[in-house]
Amino acid sequence: MAGFPYQRPRRLRTTAAVRRLVAETRVHPSSLVLPLFVREGIDAPREVASMPGVLQHTRDSLRKAVVSAAQAGVGGVMLFGVPAERDSDGTAGIDPDGILNQATRDVIGEVGDAVVVMTDLCLDEFTDHGHCGVLDAEGNVDNDSTLEQYARMALAQAESGSHMLGTSGMMDGQVARVREALDTAGYTDTSILAYAAKYASACYGPFRDAVESPLQGDRRTYQQDPANLKESLRETRLDVDEGADIVMVKPALPYLDVVSAIAAETTVPVAAYQVSGEYAMIEAAAANGWIDKDRMILESLTSIRRAGAEIICTYWAEHAARLLHKMD
Ligand code: PBG
Repeated sequence: MAGFPYQRPRRLRTTAAVRRLVAETRVHPSSLVLPLFVREGIDAPREVASMPGVLQHTRDSLRKAVVSAAQAGVGGVMLFGVPAERDSDGTAGIDPDGILNQATRDVIGEVGDAVVVMTDLCLDEFTDHGHCGVLDAEGNVDNDSTLEQYARMALAQAESGSHMLGTSGMMDGQVARVREALDTAGYTDTSILAYAAKYASACYGPFRDAVESPLQGDRRTYQQDPANLKESLRETRLDVDEGADIVMVKPALPYLDVVSAIAAETTVPVAAYQVSGEYAMIEAAAANGWIDKDRMILESLTSIRRAGAEIICTYWAEHAARLLHKMD
């Protein structure tokens, strides 16, 4: 039996003003990063079928999208290139005139240092087999020759002006190899956002549409098993030791325990990526009228923050930034 006077936690929920006053977690637009796709060889933007509201941009529409996101106050953008031609080594990702590197120069020319411009450092968008690395004679992803491609790609991206390279391929030693390549070439200020804990997840399905991935099979020999938590701590320690400036967990919502465990032990900023499948699930339910989309977006972002991520990559970054400004 509660004694009198019993505690009344409800007192701090009585008005919007008091709820705002005591809120422990806030999502701020400047912590949000907007992933964007730029497609070579199209003359108008195209919507990604499984990601309503997300576009494959032309170089021109990409520039405008970045300006619009910057005006909404988002903290950063993450650029993914979709080339017209692919080969076994992902050459188009290394070519200074490849779509991603060209688009990076465009974007930097437009926004300079006003927002953080990040680029995806991975081969899967550029290889004709769709894997994140180059293959050996047996068709397995070859770790160490992939690192050499990543090093070349890193230099091309840094040369294009990218502020932060998102090493997303889950090869062993990728952060160290990329850091070494950058430092040797004098790009000591180019940062590394390491996808430290990246799971082999079914949540990436719509992304593969967005980049027109030719992948057959899966990435279970390099991305992590969803069953494992300690493995993420180990991966994170390795990446930080190798020079990661920020570590990221991916996907976000099904892996909040991982975000929380990493945030509790690392001293570098922690990011989480609310991936394409997380976006598609909420969009689809909202389109059916089954959930309130904006509330669901803000609740999911708040939960990712509460778990300990300081930075969130989300396809709703601009939309959420505008919602958050309205609430202020
Ligand atoms: C790899 C990469 C992927 C995503 C981001 N970087 C695809 C994959 O690992 O299969 C997925 C992001 C998303 O699903 O939104 N370059």
